[in-house]
Amino acid sequence: MANYRIAMLPGDGIGGDVLAAAKHVLDAVGLKADYEHGDIGWEFWKNEGNPLPERTIQLLKSTDVCLFGAITSKPKEEAAAELSPALHGKGFTYSSPIVGLRQLFDLHTNMRPCKAYPGNPLNLRDDIDIVVFRENTEGLYAGVEWHPIPPDIRKAFGLHPKMKRFDAVPNEDMAISARIITRGGCRRILRSAFEHARKYGYKTVTVVEKANVIRETSGLMIREARAMASEYPEIGLLETNIDAMCMWLVKNPQDYGILVSTNLFGDIISDLAAQLVGGLGFASAGNIGDSYAVFEPTHGSAPKYTGMNKVNPIATIQAARLMLDYLGEHEKAERIERAIARVVAEGKARTYDMGGTTTTSGMADAVIAALG
Ligand code: NAI
Ligand code: MG
Repeated sequence: MANYRIAMLPGDGIGGDVLAAAKHVLDAVGLKADYEHGDIGWEFWKNEGNPLPERTIQLLKSTDVCLFGAITSKPKEEAAAELSPALHGKGFTYSSPIVGLRQLFDLHTNMRPCKAYPGNPLNLRDDIDIVVFRENTEGLYAGVEWHPIPPDIRKAFGLHPKMKRFDAVPNEDMAISARIITRGGCRRILRSAFEHARKYGYKTVTVVEKANVIRETSGLMIREARAMASEYPEIGLLETNIDAMCMWLVKNPQDYGILVSTNLFGDIISDLAAQLVGGLGFASAGNIGDSYAVFEPTHGSAPKYTGMNKVNPIATIQAARLMLDYLGEHEKAERIERAIARVVAEGKARTYDMGGTTTTSGMADAVIAALG
């Protein structure tokens, strides 16, 4: 069989360190792949006015799958200030390249496994096994926003009776972000969640929304969840509100299996769930569409640790493991998963976040030694 073609996008800061660690592990399990480097991140924003250059998009299109490290991103004003002087005034505006990738490749499913490795000193408990499914392309992150409000948009919003209260607010003193939820978007993320529950034997799917207040958008998601649940009689559907869910997750995380939500709420619960099982050093994600996928640790570029060979690579090694599952390389994926679990349980290799002094590459070496 021909080698896989894997795009490697290290990005900024610690992205390079953690991606290199993951590649060592992939080499050690004998994955046959050609790795293609792609440019992404802050440097390309500053020098080219685009953190996701067109050549990177073309590169991804020619590969089977992508492993992504992390990027630096900054608020609007700072981004504009750091743009190379030659590019000022040419209409460049910063937008997140990872959000861009999700939308460009229609990577509708964001899957974040949050399973405790027994013995990890950072676990809230050792018996947590949650997988969060977050809709990845629409909702409040669709980027449909206005500030100030253009007059025609203002007029359209004025048709809603509840806008009356805001009549006296000038357009420049108002900002609006649209929460766009489609039936198709709901169904795709729900399908991913229910299928995963069925395949891996999870007993419940919990849909996390706020339908008592955000009646239309959350309501659509809940109705679609109920409709789809009837196709999966062996799986229980639970419905919770995002605020209460944050409490329940801290109180009884062991009671939950699959969680599914729209983009913003899914983002929030995935970070919360990740912290229950060790935090950023253990949190990986798959951004999965119908024909392409990008796997990543969910942490950022942690600039203060750049080039220090210090941070925990487990999140990125896990991302590589998710990638192997996506490619159908289940046996290699399993070997990596068991090796991570063994290293954590043994407790000899511990990065700084776990209270130890093992380096990034040292942790990768420990996982490789435990591959068996
Ligand atoms: P961050 O995730 O980069 O780091 C926050 C802190 O978490 C670090 O200072 C470190 O103490 C810890 N941490 C992160 N990764 C770790 C690891 N692998 N092992 C051990 N500890 C780890 O978040 P921060 O500092 O808020 O953002 C830094 C930059 O990253 C910003 O420019 C931000 O916009 C960007 N960012 C990018 C993301 C992405 O590429 N997907 C996600 C989140 C933030
Ligand atoms: Mg997040």
